[in-house]
Amino acid sequence: MILKEVGKTKEDIKDMYNTYFYETFKRLDFIAEKGHDTYLVDENGREYLDFMAGIAVNSAGHCNPKVVEAIKEQCETLIHASNYCYTIPQAMLAELICKSIGMEKIYFQNSGAEANEVMIKLARKYGKDNYGPNRYKIVTALNSFHGRTLATLAATGQPGSAIQHNYDPFIPGITYAEFNNVKAFEEACDEDTIAVMVEPVQGEGGVIPATKEFLQGLRKLCDERDMLLLFDEVQTGWGRTGSLMAFMGYDVKPDCVSMAKAMGGGMPIGAMCTSEKLARTFGPGAHGSTYAGNPVCCAASYAQVKEILDNNLADNSDKMGEYFRNILLKLPHVKEVRGKGLMIGVEFDKEIATDVKYNSSDEGLLITAVRPSVIRLVPPLNVTKEECDKAFEILNKVVKELV
Ligand SMILES: Cc1ncc(COP(=O)(O)O)c(C=O)c1O
Repeated sequence: MILKEVGKTKEDIKDMYNTYFYETFKRLDFIAEKGHDTYLVDENGREYLDFMAGIAVNSAGHCNPKVVEAIKEQCETLIHASNYCYTIPQAMLAELICKSIGMEKIYFQNSGAEANEVMIKLARKYGKDNYGPNRYKIVTALNSFHGRTLATLAATGQPGSAIQHNYDPFIPGITYAEFNNVKAFEEACDEDTIAVMVEPVQGEGGVIPATKEFLQGLRKLCDERDMLLLFDEVQTGWGRTGSLMAFMGYDVKPDCVSMAKAMGGGMPIGAMCTSEKLARTFGPGAHGSTYAGNPVCCAASYAQVKEILDNNLADNSDKMGEYFRNILLKLPHVKEVRGKGLMIGVEFDKEIATDVKYNSSDEGLLITAVRPSVIRLVPPLNVTKEECDKAFEILNKVVKELV
């Protein structure tokens, strides 16, 4: 839909939001009407360089032509059946993903939170099935973010934060330990702990990469105590950090990995992939979802994953990430530039991230603020040097004007 076609003004649309919508976001002051490549286009045809990419979703660009074609074709063939039927896109996508990342089984979901939710459910069931009723505890990292359903909110290690406030009591059995500290995890796990769950790079927590020692240490800990290692790769997956999955870049294989965002090219799809060890934990009736693995989402995801694979977008993410991080170091008031591939956080020595975000948008660059002093840049993985240079120029101007 575009504004002209529906006969409304921008103010009408904003009024409709105010009247009818539960507003949980403070929105940027434009209507996202169209998108192409690295650009989001507003109601007046103004193009914004999109380094937010739908929050790390549009990794092969907005409205990638292959994804669009796949959606159109699938819509004309079959939009929805049910999970009582075999459907071709599901099978094609399951094989493509498992083979590409070296995992044995997949379960499709509709979002990142749902992918994590099912990962938590699987871990609990595996624990109880194999070791008895008390073996269901999970340890996650402080400062983590795993989603906003009740189980994933419990897994989110941000006690006392606004995102958790007044949603308690949470599901029991989830405790937190310090990120990048194997010893802390060792101490937090007891004989009833069945799994450890972390993001290889904490995204919402301020773009904080795990160290190799940490992830390898967790792998060792899990092997020694017969616990499962769960990676939340909802944000880091599919090339974002410079390898196909972040775990591949760290050379640490989890027992179970969740994914969403980039895999769908903009369509709502998530998944959980496991090793053979967990393959028999779910049988008929153990889990389900009406839409999960919907044919249109799977067809779109198949096209998107193929785009990422065929164009070596993980490699481009690695190269362009390094290039971009180096130039970002030249911004005024930078304390640290961190991240992996094209998942980049810039920490300023002042709490200006929200202002930088809104002022950058006014100047035609879209980014997010993940902490009061940290902005996050997650452009499409096929971003060019010229686009990174342009983003830097805008940020440079905005920060100079602010402080
Ligand atoms: C690491 C991580 N896990 C889970 C989620 C939740 O995903 P969704 O918003 O698709 O439910 C996010 C979303 O930002 C995320 O970054």
